[in-house]
Amino acid sequence: MPESSSRPENEFFHVLKTQQFDRPLLDGLCELTTAIRKFAKHKEGLLFLRSLLAHKRAMLYFTQPSTRTFLSFNNACQILGIQTSEIRDSSTSSEIKGESLLDSLRTFSSYVDVIVMRTKESGLAESAAKLFDRTHRRVPIINAGSGKDQHPTQALLDIYTLERSFQHRGGIDGKTIGMMGDLKRGRTVRSLGYLMKNYQDVKLVFIAPPAFRMEEDIKGHLRECNIPYVETEDMQSVLPELDAIYITRIQDEHDIAGESSKVDTSQFKLGVKHLSSMKKDAVIMHPLPRRDEIHPDVDDDPRAKYWRQERNGMWMRVAILTKIFKIDHHILHANLLD
Ligand code: NCD
Repeated sequence: MPESSSRPENEFFHVLKTQQFDRPLLDGLCELTTAIRKFAKHKEGLLFLRSLLAHKRAMLYFTQPSTRTFLSFNNACQILGIQTSEIRDSSTSSEIKGESLLDSLRTFSSYVDVIVMRTKESGLAESAAKLFDRTHRRVPIINAGSGKDQHPTQALLDIYTLERSFQHRGGIDGKTIGMMGDLKRGRTVRSLGYLMKNYQDVKLVFIAPPAFRMEEDIKGHLRECNIPYVETEDMQSVLPELDAIYITRIQDEHDIAGESSKVDTSQFKLGVKHLSSMKKDAVIMHPLPRRDEIHPDVDDDPRAKYWRQERNGMWMRVAILTKIFKIDHHILHANLLD
């Protein structure tokens, strides 16, 4: 299938941080994700999807632990026919011989058409993208989690989950969204925070112990964009007003001296006893993995959307890959739908 040359501009090449997404792009990605889900419901649709990028190869460079982001990218690639190679431990790459990561990435780019990368360092995906932008072999980079700072594809799947959950209530516009847990080092909530400027009349409620409050860069951005937010340590008092609560894990892998264990996080957990205080059509989300921030018994409540959120991730990543390779119009305009 020929790649499109009819569209004047690709809307994005790399996926590095959520600041690069505007509302039309977000709405377009959501529409595309829904179309892909419909195709995937039947064999013909799945075979069609698998034919779209069977001529492409991807590198999954995940040197920081990952289960769902790795698997969902791997499966998203398989859905589109993309073949994958992977590195999951830098001790098995030439970095151990002293090669710089940027040199290693440049090496990967010799073999593949897209690099998906998760690293414990912040900003590496951006450095890699800058490097590739100067070379003859410019390969798209997808940031699948960069240290404490960003996890843009997670935020995109979170937007899709919110939009889908609120589809009969006017979408995300006008909603009050709580974010709870380790907001300081949780890259998912940080990335999602940057996207909120794209929605009208949204209010944010940050629920965290003082040690894990949302950082000033995100709060400053929200103030500049006139997105109102409040900060509280009292989950119970704000639960009744929330349309969604997005709960995160304490990110103690970033601890230098075990400081997380000294913080009392007992008031930042959702149990069955809290559910009666919440709106009947509220949405409970979590990027997963969870520890004890959400009691497993909450899973049975219809407002718990985190397992659906996880599966949405695979479909959103299919959508992202089709945009990068400019074949999304084949999906939107195909006659196979319905
Ligand atoms: C998140 C991450 O890696 O930042 N996980 C994920 O990708 N779904 C959240 C976390 O690890 O707490």
